[in-house]
Amino acid sequence: MAVYVESRPGSEAQPLGGPPLRELATADGRRVGTAVRADALADDLAYRQIVAGQFSSVTPENEMKWSHLQPEQGRFAYGPADDIVAFALEHGQVVRGHTLVWHNQLPGWVPGLGARDLRAAMLEHVRRVAEHFKGRIAQWDVVNEAITDAGRLRRRPFAEKLGPGYVAEAFRTARRADPRAKLFINDYGIEGINRKSDRLYALVAELKRAGVPVDGVGFQMHVNLEGVPETFVANLRRFAALGLDLAVTEADVALRVPPSEEDLRAQGRVFADAVRGCRAVPECRSFTFWGFTDSRSWISETRPGFGAATLLDERLRPKPAYRAVQRALGP
Ligand code: G3I
Repeated sequence: MAVYVESRPGSEAQPLGGPPLRELATADGRRVGTAVRADALADDLAYRQIVAGQFSSVTPENEMKWSHLQPEQGRFAYGPADDIVAFALEHGQVVRGHTLVWHNQLPGWVPGLGARDLRAAMLEHVRRVAEHFKGRIAQWDVVNEAITDAGRLRRRPFAEKLGPGYVAEAFRTARRADPRAKLFINDYGIEGINRKSDRLYALVAELKRAGVPVDGVGFQMHVNLEGVPETFVANLRRFAALGLDLAVTEADVALRVPPSEEDLRAQGRVFADAVRGCRAVPECRSFTFWGFTDSRSWISETRPGFGAATLLDERLRPKPAYRAVQRALGP
């Protein structure tokens, strides 16, 4: 039986032992990050202490998505996202903004718009949000998950109504609104060389040729015990050769629950491979986990039969994965 015990809101985090991940990453000239939740930062002292102590970059897990920021057309709701940014600045962290244009977590008013209104709404959303956070976002995931698993440009809703040029339009608008943020395209299933990453590579190469301001590619790294693809480093290198920054943006390793001791050790090896792969490529300067505790992870919450996908257990105790990442980030 999987045991899901919430970390108790009022209690302090127990020391994790050994050097904090952010210290190790800084010594290596990199950032180490986690997805965070505004409600947990507000209510849970131990959660807050671990975010502050272990990570040098944070990504709002949901709070900067379109449905959260503009639930009704023209009504922007920045509160929880602003709280996360304020927390990050207070703790010497950078923020990865996630995400301006995505087919998922769109507010209900968006999918029904016709082409002209959708284009205006998309550009307005990108401009207003990027201007709001201007100067406070290190990297924006401007476009998220633009490529399908079959390796085509995803049609719904943006390409279908706006044509493939919507990607370039979104990047140009974001650049004008916040010229100093690094602008990323982010996707899952592109860690190895495969038809999906080939298609993304072709898209990004074309955008660069056309002078579109794309600065980086985010590799989400939602994986399982099948591990990190063997071609991960070769794939990172080909993207780096296009003159791009690279980042691992959403790492987690889903296990069947309850996991065996051997599964937990194997999970540590997978996380360590991902970290070492990133470190093998100088342009891969930021490595973000999609949450750090099994008590607050989308895998446990939304994938029946799977869980235990993060570095710390439900009570914020280090799993073998945490130690493996400490070693993989270390000198
Ligand atoms: O906000 C509602 C809340 O009002 C309601 O009570 C509750 C009941 O289920 O749902 C809440 O919405 C949830 C939302 O997260 C905010 O917490 C949704 O049900 C839930 O589906 C949603 O899941 C998020 C998912 O993106 C949506 O696609 C996950 O937390 C988040 O981890 C996940 O993150 C994505 C990245 O953005 C992009 N890459 C893949 C990654 C994993 O799916």
